[in-house]
Amino acid sequence: MNIVLLGPPGAGKGTQAEKLSARYGWPQIATGDILRAALSEGTGLGLEAKKYMDVGELVPDEVVEGLVEERLGRDDAREGFILDGFPRNAHQAAALDGYLSARGLSIDLVVNIVVETEVLVRRIAGRRACRQCGANYHVDFNPPAEEGLCGQCGGELYQREDDNEETVGNRLDVYLGHTEPLIEYYRPCGCLVSVDGSKSPDEVFEAITGAVEKVLVRE
Ligand code: AP5
Ligand code: MG
Repeated sequence: MNIVLLGPPGAGKGTQAEKLSARYGWPQIATGDILRAALSEGTGLGLEAKKYMDVGELVPDEVVEGLVEERLGRDDAREGFILDGFPRNAHQAAALDGYLSARGLSIDLVVNIVVETEVLVRRIAGRRACRQCGANYHVDFNPPAEEGLCGQCGGELYQREDDNEETVGNRLDVYLGHTEPLIEYYRPCGCLVSVDGSKSPDEVFEAITGAVEKVLVRE
């Protein structure tokens, strides 16, 4: 089953994609994570992407679209995938449609995670991620058992460089200008579901799995 998670920065796309992947086995394909991994490996791609990520701008479409196409072509994405952070604008959405339709595939479910701005800012300010395995925490809402250490792999927890106030403001503006319009782009497909992302992670997950199960029953 092919899923797109839409939502502003801090909405919980990564949190929910991780849970969905653990439950159903479809890979989480998070463009932000792929770009951060390239950066920590010091590749040319990572260094190029950093210029945009540091200021909260979108990395050029051709770069991100190429990454996603390569990732979607791998074996583990054959039974389905969970796109987290892609597409982010109309160009990327059209590129994804083109890639999928050329292979007789389509998006089965688009989950729009709705959260108000004040909550987003608190979530992003308190977010911590594991340097080793990428697991997600929050200092108040989802604290690790031991401060600064990942409960899953023991790795060091860190704060993302683009989680500072100024960059977050720009990321929110970019979301409103470029990504939010995708809600209307996907509406005609009949596969768009909005969930209240301000509830607890488990409650949000329940709402999303409810939508997933409905699609699975139809298939
Ligand atoms: P990306 O990494 O995708 O960041 P983002 O979209 O800004 O989203 P976040 O990762 O900040 O939020 P999230 O929705 O995943 O929330 P999370 O689950 O972590 O992109 C970063 C940059 O990369 C972009 O600015 C751009 O430069 C570049 N980029 C990426 N994709 C691109 C693309 N397609 N095209 C071009 N450029 C691209 O949750 C946030 C926090 O809240 C966590 O601490 C979590 O524990 C907590 N939390 C989650 N859910 C709940 C809940 N229900 N209740 C309480 N706390 C919660
Ligand atoms: Mg994320």
